[in-house]
Amino acid sequence: MNIGKTKRLAAAALCGVLLTTSGCFIQKNPPVDSLSTSDSALKATKDTPDNVSSLASSKPGSSSNASSENKKKSSSAISSSSSASSDKSSSSKAASNSSATTSSKTASAAPKAESILLSEYSVNMKVGDERYINATVMPTNEEVVWKSSSDSIAVVDDSGRVAAMKAGTCTITASARSNKNVSASLTVTVSSDESEKTSSEKTASREHSNAPVSGLSLSLPVSVLAVGQTVTPIIELIPENTDSSEVTLSTSDSSVLYINNDGSVTAYSAGACTLKAVYSDNEDISDSIIVTVSDSITPEENIPRENNNTQTASQNEDYEDNNDEDENESDSGEYENGYYVDGILIVNKSYSLPRSYNPGGLTPECEEAFYRLRQGAAADNVNIYLSSGFRSYDYQSSLYNGYVSYYGRAAADTFSARPGHSEHQTGLAIDCNIVNDSFIGTREAIWLAEHCHEYGFIIRYPQGKQSITGYKYEPWHIRYIGDKAEEIYESGLTLEEYYGLPSSYDE
Ligand code: DAL
Ligand code: ZN
Repeated sequence: MNIGKTKRLAAAALCGVLLTTSGCFIQKNPPVDSLSTSDSALKATKDTPDNVSSLASSKPGSSSNASSENKKKSSSAISSSSSASSDKSSSSKAASNSSATTSSKTASAAPKAESILLSEYSVNMKVGDERYINATVMPTNEEVVWKSSSDSIAVVDDSGRVAAMKAGTCTITASARSNKNVSASLTVTVSSDESEKTSSEKTASREHSNAPVSGLSLSLPVSVLAVGQTVTPIIELIPENTDSSEVTLSTSDSSVLYINNDGSVTAYSAGACTLKAVYSDNEDISDSIIVTVSDSITPEENIPRENNNTQTASQNEDYEDNNDEDENESDSGEYENGYYVDGILIVNKSYSLPRSYNPGGLTPECEEAFYRLRQGAAADNVNIYLSSGFRSYDYQSSLYNGYVSYYGRAAADTFSARPGHSEHQTGLAIDCNIVNDSFIGTREAIWLAEHCHEYGFIIRYPQGKQSITGYKYEPWHIRYIGDKAEEIYESGLTLEEYYGLPSSYDE
């Protein structure tokens, strides 16, 4: 790693409270996650699953300004790719867009993996915990290969499920299947039962045992920094209350992010860099985050979130839903605990969830049903796997706002839910296999359509029902309903039609 600057931290300044960095949006090029174009004119062939370039070319002004627009985007955002330089990615994207303007030539320009967006960049787990990490490869949406730097601390399986094995810190890396140099990593800090004890027990035990430092977590109080803004990074050491004066911060680019003598950091210019914290010169006890600095927000607008342990979104999101949690239902159709019909949680453009609604992963019922579905598919020689499961409000916000900034709100609204409006936040929805139009008509898509109801799921956004569901055809998106799935499937109706529900935004 190219470390530009290091400063020793002041002891008292950084005894922070842990915040996970979920929702940290890292984007060099626009994401294309669930982009789906059922419109046959735009539908990509299996050989060229690039519905993105089709849509990009339809964006007003995109053809003449593609190159400069993309350069501008690249300069203010970053890639989680470890190897692609920013210039390289910028020019490859510009080339891809200009080819999109001549649709007859687009067929030979299949998209390449450019960067990976992870749902989390730092997670804390206890021994025995399991959780899923979502990885979105942009712009190809291909599968990733997962790898742990230490299987003895945390193992990760093909679907991104991480299992914590023993206390310590390790790195989990997702690499694009088509190009292992395109990758993104997250730090997993596993604590043992030691951290479960009360603070007095911990103090007592440390006094007697002098427990060695086993983990370090680094985060910032805002997701994106405004130029000119100074914040104090939040560092947690395991065990808690360890003297943090032994932590060294470094930045990969001090012209973007400068480390002050008191341990705070100041954003100097728009761009991105890596901020790293190392304990006692021991690279094994360290954490890195990618910091984005934006010149399109002001420090005054960018108020750091509270230092508490609840998941909160950045203050400068492009889109914020009404989050009035004092009432059960807000004006925007948001229900504090979700809106239920017939025992079924309804989330669509008319009914949303508050940011605080966070089951933390797929619900146990959904996970169990999906496990059985996979077994059923395997018995038919069909491989169904999870590509995207639970998505927090903040993660959805990152995805959606990324799409909006590239495709515009009207287009984004046809394939991506606004934060609070995604079924993925319920922990009851799963995107299977390939999350783009190349999945249409595959054996796997046909199997899902014919059998998922047997396991309590429905295809939530069927073909030809966009005016009812609000979304284009998504043969990969299944929703766990439970027992009612059979009846809904037999009816041939969407969830909205079956229960007579609307799905549209107020605006
Ligand atoms: N792609 C679906 C609509 C979502 O974003 O939840
Ligand atoms: Zn989905």
